[in-house]
Amino acid sequence: MHQYTPTLNCMGYMTPSLDKIQEAFVEYCAINRSGLFVDLGCGFGVAALPVIAKGCQIIACDLEAKHLEILKEEVPEQNRALLTVMTGHFPDELRFPENTFDGINLSMVLHFFPPHKIEGVFHELFFSLKPGGRLFLTTSSPYQGALAPFIPVYEKKRLTEEWPGYIPNIAEYVPQRAHLLPKENIVFCIHELRRLATKFNFHVIDAAFFSREGIPPDLSLDGREYSGIICEKPADPTSAFLEKNKAIIPTLAAKIR
Ligand SMILES: C[S@@+](CC[C@H](N)C(=O)[O-])C[C@H]1O[C@@H](n2cnc3c(N)ncnc32)[C@H](O)[C@@H]1O
Repeated sequence: MHQYTPTLNCMGYMTPSLDKIQEAFVEYCAINRSGLFVDLGCGFGVAALPVIAKGCQIIACDLEAKHLEILKEEVPEQNRALLTVMTGHFPDELRFPENTFDGINLSMVLHFFPPHKIEGVFHELFFSLKPGGRLFLTTSSPYQGALAPFIPVYEKKRLTEEWPGYIPNIAEYVPQRAHLLPKENIVFCIHELRRLATKFNFHVIDAAFFSREGIPPDLSLDGREYSGIICEKPADPTSAFLEKNKAIIPTLAAKIR
């Protein structure tokens, strides 16, 4: 069975194998083989490596240079030209021009941003995707065994707060794992992911809870341990904006009346 491997910079764990959202990312890259893809917070490259194996160009970014060294070692010599690595913080240090990417993978990274930065992250994701490009995103959900005492807190806050999954001190819930995680954490349900994506004019293709092969027993709950979303930047972002907001944009008919 695949094992969860701790990151080298106390940023949680590398996912042991592709989940269904990452699988969809790899398939999407393979279908659009001439495109340019990016894996933000790639870790050791659980998703970037199979994308390279499909013969696609990918930029792999991570805060931790040692993760990228390990990833590079795993790429066969004949495929090295397909990989570009970039060390730094997305989006504080790593930003990309408008309409750069055909696909973005952001797997198990969003929950490390403080709440006030999350919309900025979504703005950058939308901005750097080409029209028609897709975002594949996964994150922890509140429905994890170790977070059981937090679930009622989350469900109550969900009715009134913008970021109900915000956990100021993760050690309160997972003392046994706290040394491998940043102190602050934020977990998301698919509802928050949908809301965020829609707010930034993405077209949501799929949003689902899922579990993982090899999930440690203390995290396992009921199959909803992780949340994922696949969404697309509309081919014509202006018309998508108008479509979404047509209820509040005065129409000609309304003016005539
Ligand atoms: C939990 S691991 C997930 C790794 C991989 N994406 C996966 O799904 O297995 C989070 C990774 O994202 C990196 N990371 C976290 N925040 C980041 C940021 N703002 N910019 C770039 N990398 C980041 C960490 O260094 C770590 O390697």
